Amino acid sequence: MSLLAVEWDDAAADGHGALTLLDQTVLPERTEHLVVRTVDELVDAIVALAVRGAPALGVAGAMGVVVAMDQAEREGWDAARLEAEVDRVRHARPTAVNLAWGVDRVRPLVARGRDAVLAAAREVAAEDEAANHELSRLGADWLLARVGRPRLRVLTHCNAGALATSAWGTALGVVRELHARDALELVVADETRPLLQGSRLTAYELAEEGIPHVVQVDSAAASTILRGLVDCAVVGADRIAANGDVANKVGTLGVGLACREAGIPLLVAAPWSTVDLSMPDGTGIEIEERPGEEVTELAGRRTAPMGSRGLNPAFDVTPARFVAAVATERGVVEPAAGAGPDRLVDQI
Ligand code: MRU
Repeated sequence: MSLLAVEWDDAAADGHGALTLLDQTVLPERTEHLVVRTVDELVDAIVALAVRGAPALGVAGAMGVVVAMDQAEREGWDAARLEAEVDRVRHARPTAVNLAWGVDRVRPLVARGRDAVLAAAREVAAEDEAANHELSRLGADWLLARVGRPRLRVLTHCNAGALATSAWGTALGVVRELHARDALELVVADETRPLLQGSRLTAYELAEEGIPHVVQVDSAAASTILRGLVDCAVVGADRIAANGDVANKVGTLGVGLACREAGIPLLVAAPWSTVDLSMPDGTGIEIEERPGEEVTELAGRRTAPMGSRGLNPAFDVTPARFVAAVATERGVVEPAAGAGPDRLVDQI
């Protein structure tokens, strides 16, 4: 199955070309695409999580610069306005470093014109796909060597699959790699409250490929781990600090704590674009706070009393001491053993 979360479609918008996003807010019930022609539309799509997942946000950010340039051309913006609008894309969500990284990768090319920026944005997508395949191979090798079982039972949290990247996936890329090697027994997917990226998106990807899986509520994860029902946990990341502290979907920290207690590894799978060496550790990572209604309501219906406010951090930071390994396309490091991704700076 080929799931394209983010794509530049040259034929869209009457042949002018446009950014198209697979609308992840309505999956798996409906498969619908959004054609994005303005910065407002892109920022709204990012905030609503129509496009989401750190590497996919990186591609959307890079292609978003072209969206802004096209709108500037149509509406006659000056250079300062264009800069300001590109900044709005860059800052649409704060935690995943890939969004700003994607914008910053192509922004210096604006002076060279739209085609140069679009080509560079497409390169961002192609590089991400290649990185995902490589880190998945390395991650699977590491896991099989570490766990020492021929077929693994893997817990995952949120969605770090094709939908969250340009293609293939990071944590689910490792899962796909294990499956292809006949080294996967079962995936236990956390449903990932409040927006259900696990049950709506991860389970969708796994079901489409016939990969054996079950979906559990997030609050079952610690017990599943301590009861010995899984051999490891594999998750993606939104930002990884130099020492190996990892920001990822809220709930990842609990998974890491339980893995450490149970003596099984937590593997974080992410492309190098998710590593932020300007952060020595995770304490400086901004955690996105989302509207409380995402917690106090279910499917648009109020479940908590009207007087109760929701607390809704979208991410948490798992300290390096709970992260057995980080697999990137540059190699695998073991933060819990004192080796952060800064060890990989000279690779490639
Ligand atoms: O809020 P989301 O759905 O964008 O959160 C996504 C995650 O936390 C993913 O695990 C992370 O971005 C890695 S995706 C390869």
